Amino acid sequence: MERATAIRAGARARAAKLAYVPADHEPVLAEELVELLDPRPGETFLDCTFGAGGHARLVAERLGAGGELIAVDRDPEAERRWREFSKHAPCRTRFLRSDFAPALEGLRGAGVRPDGVYLDLGMSSMQVDAWERGFSYAYDAPLDMRMDPDQKLTAAEIVNEWPQERIARVLREFGEERRAGSMAREIVRRRPIETTAELVTAIKAAVPPADRFGRGHPAKRAFQAIRIAVNGELEALDRALPLAWQLLAVGGRMGAISFHSLEDRRVKRFLADRARGCVCPPEIPVCVCGREPDAELLTKRALAPTPDEIERNPRSASAHLRVARKLSDERSGNGNGDGRGNGGS
Ligand SMILES: C[S@@+](CC[C@H](N)C(=O)[O-])C[C@H]1O[C@@H](n2cnc3c(N)ncnc32)[C@H](O)[C@@H]1O
Repeated sequence: MERATAIRAGARARAAKLAYVPADHEPVLAEELVELLDPRPGETFLDCTFGAGGHARLVAERLGAGGELIAVDRDPEAERRWREFSKHAPCRTRFLRSDFAPALEGLRGAGVRPDGVYLDLGMSSMQVDAWERGFSYAYDAPLDMRMDPDQKLTAAEIVNEWPQERIARVLREFGEERRAGSMAREIVRRRPIETTAELVTAIKAAVPPADRFGRGHPAKRAFQAIRIAVNGELEALDRALPLAWQLLAVGGRMGAISFHSLEDRRVKRFLADRARGCVCPPEIPVCVCGREPDAELLTKRALAPTPDEIERNPRSASAHLRVARKLSDERSGNGNGDGRGNGGS
């Protein structure tokens, strides 16, 4: 807790000098992320989820003219935002419109070794607020929810074509929804369902009136679940974490902001495993595995937004940030030299 307070105090002092925060978008846990990732002049950073570029602006300012920010996002709207950003960016920058997992593979192939990598997971405010994209249960819109509009799978296909049991599994596994079975049954019974409002009605019909209060909007978890399924969010994260770590230069920092426990659990386990040394059974008195940690956790426990931030930006409420520093390349399968030198930048 003390460490978190110190991080925030330092971050606030520095953030006061930063000029690039746009008025229309508030990046989540931004001070904490930048302070822990500690971008330095001349370094290369990889923003896997550019969105509206809120974090990228802060990072770019620290990288300065000699540094490079590589931005990735699968949403063409993020690319449009990046084009604006690139006109005034204080460092070199390039954009890859792609799912972050294949983008990371491509960068590995090109020999890029960034000093910092970060992922700010989930959907952006831009995506939620573009009502016609169907991410929100608050607006009536066609059932879409694709982050990449060129992708074939939409929410409409899941809702109208997937078997009831598969829909129930999505709601249970990706939404941790207690009423997954009855919601899936109601959805299938009411097909065809064409809009988000029709989907909300079906979901509400599966929730007994006494349960409709006290757990937030009754469709919140189901919408999250369907969005995760449409965008393959957890598979992408599972692929991306080891790739991002492998890419990272020794001494580099990796951070992830998650918005629900399914993401945070993955990030936590991944980093904890990297930070773990000896894995010998406890009954063996002397280590025979020889395993050394290849990460230092810079957040022992996930950082959450302050009450002030939540008040300013209620969408930050469920955010959790974890950051680690890479100590060695031994377990990343890079094994050549000290891991420095940005071959592709
Ligand atoms: C929470 S927003 C990022 C906001 C950004 N950090 C900012 O400050 O403006 C998440 C972004 O990540 C993108 N995204 C999510 N999953 C992705 C994936 N697997 N590959 C590429 N982009 C992804 C979304 O399209 C969205 O623009």
